[in-house]
Amino acid sequence: MKILSIETSCDDTGISILEAKGSTENASFNVLADSLISQDIHSAYGGVFPMMAKREHIKNLPILLDKVLRYAGFSLERSLAQVDAPSRENFQQKIIRAESEAKSRIDAIAVTYGPGLEPCLWTGIVFAQELSKKWNVPVIPTNHMEGHIFSVFGKNKGEFKFPKIVFPVLTLLVSGGHTELVLVKDFGKYKILGKTLDDAAGEAYDKVARMLGLPYPGGPALSRLASQARKLKIKDYELEIILPRPMLYSKNLNFSFSGLKTAVLYLIKKIQKTKELDEETKSQIALEFENAVVETLVHKTKKAMEEYKVSTLIVAGGVAANKHLRNEMKKLTKLMDNDTKLFFPTPELSRDNALMIGIAGYLQFLKKKGKFGRASSIKAKGDLAL
Ligand code: KG4
Ligand code: ZN
Repeated sequence: MKILSIETSCDDTGISILEAKGSTENASFNVLADSLISQDIHSAYGGVFPMMAKREHIKNLPILLDKVLRYAGFSLERSLAQVDAPSRENFQQKIIRAESEAKSRIDAIAVTYGPGLEPCLWTGIVFAQELSKKWNVPVIPTNHMEGHIFSVFGKNKGEFKFPKIVFPVLTLLVSGGHTELVLVKDFGKYKILGKTLDDAAGEAYDKVARMLGLPYPGGPALSRLASQARKLKIKDYELEIILPRPMLYSKNLNFSFSGLKTAVLYLIKKIQKTKELDEETKSQIALEFENAVVETLVHKTKKAMEEYKVSTLIVAGGVAANKHLRNEMKKLTKLMDNDTKLFFPTPELSRDNALMIGIAGYLQFLKKKGKFGRASSIKAKGDLAL
């Protein structure tokens, strides 16, 4: 079946078309079209403004729809328009192509209905509802975080299929809005083992980056500074910077990053009393901050893997693009049992995207055996849980 998927939960507008086949155990996919517009306007403001993001989604969605339909060759109206247009291509051939394209149109629409910013989620939902009416196809309400989990098996081009998955699987979800350890007991069966009590890891990256005068989103820029400092020998620095590792020794599997962020704020204030915050000091703070975040994430992940005896680890969400986190997670799984498997999304699929919504949407389709209620009854759920 062909699924058109829509993602508008935050500041990325995405639409993709996936052809999906098989049962959950042997699902296979073919990417027919994939598109994304990342809203740059927020970078000047240091964060995402929901109403501004909503306006951008409304502007971007029709542009992306047109793009993916054309790319996948599904636009009947367009094909017929081409038939009328004078061209060298044989008229009969064009009719045949238009007909075959019409037959191979979309079978279902998957749309993110949460979690995320509600005004943004609504734009995707309303868009999906309108298309559903026009094309007479069902709408699959899809959880953004379920999308992140299964993004690790995807590619943004060509064909891919699910590997053999041995449940339970542990997933560390790390994004701008979430930091969660999730036990995936089976497809669609989740248990939250621990989560952040305040800021998400990505949010902490963004806030600390802002303190260091870096643009939004701060994760990639802050991480670049940290890796520069990691390459230079830390002992060569004149200042010794030590930040706390929050909740490292707490008995549970929860996280907390707001204290770490405040520690950075006080540290900057203290440094600025005697000197300017120069580039070297900034990189050193970035390094120590990244080390503190990654150490905490790795420590709690290790604890959860041991407690729940899992041999497959998924690390997903925007922060999963972080090189230091990837390296440390690789080290962790190497240290564990030889059979331990580790999955990350490709860089394109670690950030928000519509392809992962198509994948998770297909799993929902299989779970509900294709039976979905009225598209008009779908509502945005900003705090939707797994
Ligand atoms: O999953 P995502 O694209 O959006 C949400 O659902 O939140 O995650 C975005 C978050 C931002 O906070 C961004 O700063 C962070 O992921 N991020 C990174 C890196 N790339 C993106 N954080 C650390 N290192 C990175 N390389
Ligand atoms: Zn996300």
